[in-house]
Amino acid sequence: MRTIKAGMLGIGNVGTGTYKTLQMNRKHIQDTAGVDIEIVKILNRRPHVDRGIDVDPSVYVQDVDLILNDPEIEVVIELIGGVEPATTYMAQALKNGKHVVTANKAALAENGKMLSKLAEENHVMLRFEASVGGGIPIIKPLTGPLYSNQIEEILGIVNGTTNYILTQMTDNGSDYDAVLKDAQEKGFAEADPSGDVEGHDVANKLAVLMSLVFGMDVPPSKIPTEGITAINKVDISYATQFGCKIKLIAAAKKVGNAVECDVQPTLIPVSHPLATVSNEFNAIFVTGNAVDDLMFYGKDAGPLPTGSAVVGDLIEVASAIEKNCAFDIQPLLRYDSDLEFLGEGSNQYYVRFEVEDRPGILGAISSTLGRYEIGIESMMQSSQSKQAEGLATLVFIFYETGRSVLDQALEELKSKSFVKSVESVIRVQK
Ligand SMILES: NC(=O)c1ccc[n+]([C@@H]2O[C@H](COP(=O)([O-])OP(=O)(O)OC[C@H]3O[C@@H](n4cnc5c(N)ncnc54)[C@H](OP(=O)(O)O)[C@@H]3O)[C@@H](O)[C@H]2O)c1
Repeated sequence: MRTIKAGMLGIGNVGTGTYKTLQMNRKHIQDTAGVDIEIVKILNRRPHVDRGIDVDPSVYVQDVDLILNDPEIEVVIELIGGVEPATTYMAQALKNGKHVVTANKAALAENGKMLSKLAEENHVMLRFEASVGGGIPIIKPLTGPLYSNQIEEILGIVNGTTNYILTQMTDNGSDYDAVLKDAQEKGFAEADPSGDVEGHDVANKLAVLMSLVFGMDVPPSKIPTEGITAINKVDISYATQFGCKIKLIAAAKKVGNAVECDVQPTLIPVSHPLATVSNEFNAIFVTGNAVDDLMFYGKDAGPLPTGSAVVGDLIEVASAIEKNCAFDIQPLLRYDSDLEFLGEGSNQYYVRFEVEDRPGILGAISSTLGRYEIGIESMMQSSQSKQAEGLATLVFIFYETGRSVLDQALEELKSKSFVKSVESVIRVQK
């Protein structure tokens, strides 16, 4: 059996998980896939650090060129993360005729088009199953079995940190700051959680999914993105009373010849399968025009779940090399569609107002909304918490409307003396 030699860049969480998965299952992979894979060099800028893996120290190198230019290495596994220098390293590996396996959604979201083109030009494979959904197989189903469908909509809970925080706030009534601290202590949130809680990690993953599903090149900065930092216990409590949970959802939907997309906290009915996805678990809900609804569920993070996806890609690449057909396998990312990019489209919205507690206010709000053709599906009123201040809380769920129309209506309402504030605006997914 031929041994396919790989070089790995980075030996952090996913690097160690990948190395362990390969060590744990090497014999099983040989028996079942008929290929042998060996990681012969690892770029490790701090070789003195104990990574908790059983590795011969001679495997560690500090000069990336020793991997990128090694003629024996056929596959480069990029697990550094971030846009640079990861993109430059992957580009060089592809130019040098090496296959690339990566978990890096940030680099793919920014530079996927360039990297795919390089892979195609150099007749090598670029694989990235771990980049979206971590251990959840989603790239392969979308780019294999589901090619038989036109995908109509994709909805994802694709960030474990934010889902853990929202679940704890919902189930235990905890405060955002306390749960974030707890998540950091348990290793579910990074020391600097901004990329997660502000939604940028999710936008990167949605950009990758939109390329796979709709063939669109959408820079993540163009995706309307809102994180979970403004979500509070009051809105979670009203959402519960409306029979919903609040989840951070990546959404992309085909509407005629265009695609609407955004990343934002969303009220989702408890009967929806995504509402059952709790804590660090993630799920991607896909609707195809033949297969109907599907949900892919599992752990999106962690060394071994993510290592499982990386090694799965490695096996696919190694098998293709062994069968001498890797040159014939096209990049999976596509940028060939003429679909129009629309950003945030029409949705139902939850809006919470603080208003003066006196008769006639509801009618005045309804008539302003009516001029913008915004209909009210449900409403709740409470004057308990701020009665002493002469204020009442009004909470609405509106029928579907465009975000810009809603924003105009809310601006007009904010200018009325009886509206003290618009406290929250949250998308509703039915
Ligand atoms: N963590 C997850 O569960 C998960 C899930 C899915 C996808 N991913 C993706 O997997 C990738 C790796 O994530 P991770 O969690 O393993 O990150 P990590 O724990 O921070 O590991 C990154 C590794 O790369 C090394 N590194 C960083 N910059 C480098 C540079 N300029 N030159 C050489 N080495 C460098 C780090 O070195 P030091 O150790 O010396 O700092 C570390 O070994 C990212 O693209 C991430 O988005 C992660």
